[in-house]
Amino acid sequence: MTVNRGHFGTRLGFVLAAAGSAIGLGNIWKFPYLAGENGGAVFLILYLGFVFTIGLSVMLAELAIGRTTQRNPVGAFNALKKGPWTAVGGMGVFAGFFILSFYSVVGGWTLAYAIKSATGLLATQDVNALGNAFGGFIKNPLEPLIYHALFMAITITIVVRGVDIGIERACRILMPLLFLLILVLCARSLTLPGADAGIAFYLKPDFSKINGSMVTSALGHAFFSLSLGMGAMITYGSYLSNKVNLPQAALWVTSLDSIIAVMAGFMILPAVFAFGYDPAAGPGLTFITLPAVFSQIPGGMIFGTLFFILLAVAALTSAISLIEVVIAYLIDERKLSRPRAAIVSGTTIFLLGIPSSLSLGIWSDFTVAGKNIFDIMDYLASNIMLPAGGIFIALFAGWVAFPKIMDGPKGGIGNDFRWTWIWQIICRYIAPAAIAVILISGL
Ligand code: TRP
Repeated sequence: MTVNRGHFGTRLGFVLAAAGSAIGLGNIWKFPYLAGENGGAVFLILYLGFVFTIGLSVMLAELAIGRTTQRNPVGAFNALKKGPWTAVGGMGVFAGFFILSFYSVVGGWTLAYAIKSATGLLATQDVNALGNAFGGFIKNPLEPLIYHALFMAITITIVVRGVDIGIERACRILMPLLFLLILVLCARSLTLPGADAGIAFYLKPDFSKINGSMVTSALGHAFFSLSLGMGAMITYGSYLSNKVNLPQAALWVTSLDSIIAVMAGFMILPAVFAFGYDPAAGPGLTFITLPAVFSQIPGGMIFGTLFFILLAVAALTSAISLIEVVIAYLIDERKLSRPRAAIVSGTTIFLLGIPSSLSLGIWSDFTVAGKNIFDIMDYLASNIMLPAGGIFIALFAGWVAFPKIMDGPKGGIGNDFRWTWIWQIICRYIAPAAIAVILISGL
């Protein structure tokens, strides 16, 4: 049963909303530090390679499954084929909880950094001092948790009311603004004295350094960044009317997302080298080097504050898409009211995020294979759950749900899609085999 399922009217509205889900902390916080840790240019090439083959195909598969069935992920699988496939949707709902729990911790950091920028706490170009400030902040047992709570509270407040026009309108203004600001910061970062070393690191691949874990990370991040593998795009596809050309929309979302990631690399990595910081410094990279870039811009405090506010907004639109998967499931399948679903899932996610946050400070001694809880959560979600979800979604779309998802009363991919055969070969064979090989060799 689907009650009052809202629809995006236009392709632009949909593309912006789906891009709002895809573009977030993954692009601006995670991508630059992963590239920094994984050999720069090599990672960039692997990432883009995965995005435009496997990523784009799974994106189209998810949107088509969503639009054909007009359901949440669990209901969507169920509607196309009863039986064990529903478990894939269930896994997606679970992944939504999991990812948002640590995502919200980082979302909290962006809120904290907006305030710290505004109050002048970060106004220095001394990256070591900024590194210490960041380290001190995330190690604090309480401060990051307050911001994590605040981030979840804002997310819940928005989704309780339903994902309405207000958000779509806000995205239309704020996302382009973020884009402009990133452009300005790229320009500044690229012209810093000593930036060339960073540009070379980012653009000149050294394939002798390539290893299996880089390939796994690049694949995992392709899924994370495009919001794939857990049904977020199934949910978005389900809000899509039959007027929109699906392959084109999928290509738009994929391209916008990777453009922002590539730009974020240009914004961060040259600055890292120019200021003499370590590109492999890990999750703090963006938060440590950007304030140093701001300090090199007239009015840097204002730019810095605005940037972190916009980043928080980008993170919120992604968080909404993660929690919507859970909420759509609770409403459609478990018959909870929307406010109830939002509050129950939001609170659970907040609690689940606490260990991730503490693992960067007082719980940092607890590690498995050298990874703290935060890294373990991220690793399990990005490098295992999402690619595994991708295998099943691709197989389902290529074998089980085909040709139902090509066309339907609400439209699927559309029978006029010229590349159906290539897309089907990727879904049936190439994507599942490639993902499986990478997943297994990564273990
Ligand atoms: N893609 C988002 C980012 O890059 C995060 C995200 C939103 C996500 N929804 C998702 C990741 C669903 C995986 C699955 O920040």
